[in-house]
Amino acid sequence: MLKNTFKVGVVGCGRIASTFDDDPKRKYISTHIGAYKYIKNTEIIAVCDRSTKKMEECQKKWNIPRGYRNIKKMLKKEKLDILSICTPADTHYAILKEAAKSPLKAVFCEKPLAATARKAKRIVGLYKKKKIILQVDHQRRFDPLHLKIRNIIRGKNLGRAQQVNFYYTAGIENTGSHVFDLLRFLFGDVKWIEAIFSKNSSPKVSDPNIDGILKFKNGVLATFQACDVKRYSIFELNCLLQKGRIVIKDSGFSADFYVTGKNRYFSGYNQLHKTKVPFDISYKRNFMVNAVKHLIKCIRENRQSVSSGTDGLKTLCLIESALYSAEHDGKRITLG
Ligand SMILES: NC(=O)c1ccc[n+]([C@@H]2O[C@H](COP(=O)([O-])OP(=O)(O)OC[C@H]3O[C@@H](n4cnc5c(N)ncnc54)[C@H](O)[C@@H]3O)[C@@H](O)[C@H]2O)c1
Repeated sequence: MLKNTFKVGVVGCGRIASTFDDDPKRKYISTHIGAYKYIKNTEIIAVCDRSTKKMEECQKKWNIPRGYRNIKKMLKKEKLDILSICTPADTHYAILKEAAKSPLKAVFCEKPLAATARKAKRIVGLYKKKKIILQVDHQRRFDPLHLKIRNIIRGKNLGRAQQVNFYYTAGIENTGSHVFDLLRFLFGDVKWIEAIFSKNSSPKVSDPNIDGILKFKNGVLATFQACDVKRYSIFELNCLLQKGRIVIKDSGFSADFYVTGKNRYFSGYNQLHKTKVPFDISYKRNFMVNAVKHLIKCIRENRQSVSSGTDGLKTLCLIESALYSAEHDGKRITLG
């Protein structure tokens, strides 16, 4: 019999764990702690950060009883059901490995799952063996707008996708992780990838911008192209279907729809006409709350997340393949 309230610990007390919610422009819950506090059947009993200052600030802000500077200690002392990992990517592997030694029900890990696909693969195997649910925070998978668009694309009412392109900023690992995950969510697994380094710079030298093309196993082709985040940020997908067009824009906060009709300017041709989005998009966006609710549902129903460790691993394989291809003059890399 499962209990009603799940005990939660959060490691890493930075932006995605806690402080994004201080941004007055964010009108929705954007943090792990904010989401757990909002949901009635979760209780945060401890946080961990290697910085005492960050840990204490976080405890005070959210009224969390216990704080630790070391994850081993927190896992040993607290009887957690859920652990959220909100530390930088290069720390995820060690924390995930340590967490697998505890009797946790689920781990909610920030993207990317690990620093390398090899490490992510080991983690996915370990969590399967230990029967711990592993969810990666590619948050668009939990959002009704993206789910509806996926159903429309897969429903084929607008025909098959003729061309897809994606514009993004801020690095192939940092944002590319969301780009590849969303593309896989909409179009399935990738057959091959070809990529080159972008001339538009990324904020981190160690995480370059990359442009490229993906061929999906279902035959769809998609390009991804990076812009310079210093100019503006963009995260926009344009999907040209046979009988219409869907644009996911404003980082996934809105969308445009078009359907084919008679051309206004030339006889004998059709054109795309902008139309009303065929479902309600005025609802309050709540990616993080949806993600945590989904995780609880997975625990209750004993099933995998829609944003699983395997999905996180496949995204990392795409990031690494893009980098390898760019380092080898756009060489085509076939995915397994
Ligand atoms: N899903 C999203 O859209 C999204 C957005 C932002 C960040 N992220 C991801 O969240 C993760 C964290 O990013 P952030 O921007 O919140 O970083 P941050 O630097 O603001 O916070 C990270 C915190 O982790 C702490 N920390 C580092 N190593 C630690 C360790 N070994 N043990 C305990 N604490 C440790 C740091 O002291 C810091 O307080 C990254 O993986 C990033 O990619 C995801």
